Amino acid sequence: MANLKIGNLQLKDGLILAPLAGINDIAFRRICAEHGASLVYTGMVNANALVRGNKATKKLAQTCDEERPVGIQIFGSNPETLVKAAKLVQDQVDIIDINMGCPDKNVIKQGAGSALLRRPKKIGELVSSVKKAIHVPLTVKIRSGIEKFSIEDTLKIAKIIETNGADALILHSRTAKQGGSGIVDWNIIKAVKEHLSIPVIGNGGVKTLSDAKLMMKDTGCDGVMIGTAAMGNPFIFEKTNEKRTYEEIKETFYRYLEYAKHYEIENIFYLRMQAQLFFKGFRSAASLRKELGYVDSIDGLKKLIELNARV
Ligand SMILES: Cc1cc2nc3c(=O)[nH]c(=O)nc-3n(C[C@H](O)[C@H](O)[C@H](O)COP(=O)(O)O)c2cc1C
Repeated sequence: MANLKIGNLQLKDGLILAPLAGINDIAFRRICAEHGASLVYTGMVNANALVRGNKATKKLAQTCDEERPVGIQIFGSNPETLVKAAKLVQDQVDIIDINMGCPDKNVIKQGAGSALLRRPKKIGELVSSVKKAIHVPLTVKIRSGIEKFSIEDTLKIAKIIETNGADALILHSRTAKQGGSGIVDWNIIKAVKEHLSIPVIGNGGVKTLSDAKLMMKDTGCDGVMIGTAAMGNPFIFEKTNEKRTYEEIKETFYRYLEYAKHYEIENIFYLRMQAQLFFKGFRSAASLRKELGYVDSIDGLKKLIELNARV
């Protein structure tokens, strides 16, 4: 895999865990790092709430040494707030990322996420303010259009991001309208790569190691970010195509539970959802969901996992 350097941060290769709000908690990121992810990102963190000291937001922004290198992703539309938020967390992370791709209504309402793609000038202002204020590398994650794919707009925005000091660009090459599914336009990744001198990280639809290699080869991108395919599947970062046994998944999931306990992630509904993601290959989604539906404690969860191992 590629040799990727973001600012002064040398990564061991180009396979990166995507920001996945509601999924890639600190325990899961640590597991991904142990399985070989060269960089992990937190899910998006509301800069406003972070600056206000909101307790739940502070927990979302928690990181640990074991998962490093780690990037924290923040969102917002006010330069002063983004700067304050970035300064609050920069000493605990290796990278700060600004989200400029999220299509969620609540994020858009604040003029943040993909709403920024309509305001190139504002993008420049945000990037340069944050860049000037921090001492860790800065990345920006965008999409390749709002309603429709647009090479022209994406190139313009990418250039503004580079000119204003970002150390790498992450391109989820779907439109904001598409959300998380549908066609991924590799041509736009290729065009952006050809126009920028900072590293370009491609994202969207990468399901396997071969997909990642192909994206790099066909687009020239410097790294690949993996989202959905990494959910419940930290093994994707091991760079082998081996199919995992139930025992291996169980061992990894138990380690996840141990870390989750350590970081006080104890909501059983949430842990059941993680179990469903880890074991999805062994039961139909519906039957697994049904079985997990009866579980109301971590002991119960482990019992079910042991029982299934013997089926
Ligand atoms: C559950 C979920 C949560 C996500 N949360 C974020 C987020 O917080 N910030 C962000 O930039 N993208 C977020 N994304 C988008 C992913 O980072 C990624 O760009 C997208 O899923 C495309 O990659 P993929 O096709 O490999 O999944 C999220 C996606 C999913 C499925």
